[in-house]
Amino acid sequence: MIPTPHNAAKLGDIARTVLMPGDPLRAEFIAEHFLQEPVQFNSIRGMLGFTGQYKGVTVSVMGSGMGMPSIGIYSYELLSFYGVENIIRVGTAGGIHRDLKLKDIVFAIGASTNSNYASQYNLQGTFAPVADYSLLRTAVDIAEREGFRYMVGNILSSDTFYSDAEDTMDWAKMGVLAVEMETAALYMNAARLCKKALGLFTISDSLITGEITSSEERQNSFTDMMKVALETAHRIG
Ligand code: HPA
Repeated sequence: MIPTPHNAAKLGDIARTVLMPGDPLRAEFIAEHFLQEPVQFNSIRGMLGFTGQYKGVTVSVMGSGMGMPSIGIYSYELLSFYGVENIIRVGTAGGIHRDLKLKDIVFAIGASTNSNYASQYNLQGTFAPVADYSLLRTAVDIAEREGFRYMVGNILSSDTFYSDAEDTMDWAKMGVLAVEMETAALYMNAARLCKKALGLFTISDSLITGEITSSEERQNSFTDMMKVALETAHRIG
């Protein structure tokens, strides 16, 4: 199955741990600023992917695109055809919990969703998509050691950014911390394929106060999140 319709990489081009931002240009930025000797392995549909070194460990970074169908395709191919063992999504999310401040890091212990993605598994009930505990524990430990502000909890992976129903805050009643659009599909693919996944996010906007981060703030908080993700990749080898 490789190369796939969406990925030009050959077997061995991609590391066992892949960091996935939504934006492919972010993937390029991460490769250029955080990895040594990055080599590009994909540009099909502009979904840039690179493999390089971080403190002597081989790490890849690839865009996921926006939404569950997009990350569903790319992560499935990485996990089932390219021998990838760990995917760490590094994204932004909108805060819906009053204790969250802009730029805080959120670790998704679980990813609730309004999507129908789980219907493919024909389960007679509601599947709870969860993070891999070893990745989660490692990443939270690093954030703690670095003194970063963070929360660990449930998030919402939504199918809509612009929701006609304006119902996102209903999820806050259930203790959900933040909203983004990809992690539930990533966790379900990882579960189905017996692989490991984690989603972590910087809070880019608040649906409670309407505040949004400036581009400078986004850059700094992004760097903190990348430190957590890369150090996690380094620790798990
Ligand atoms: N909604 C969905 N996805 C997001 C948001 C949001 O408010 N902020 C960042 N990603």
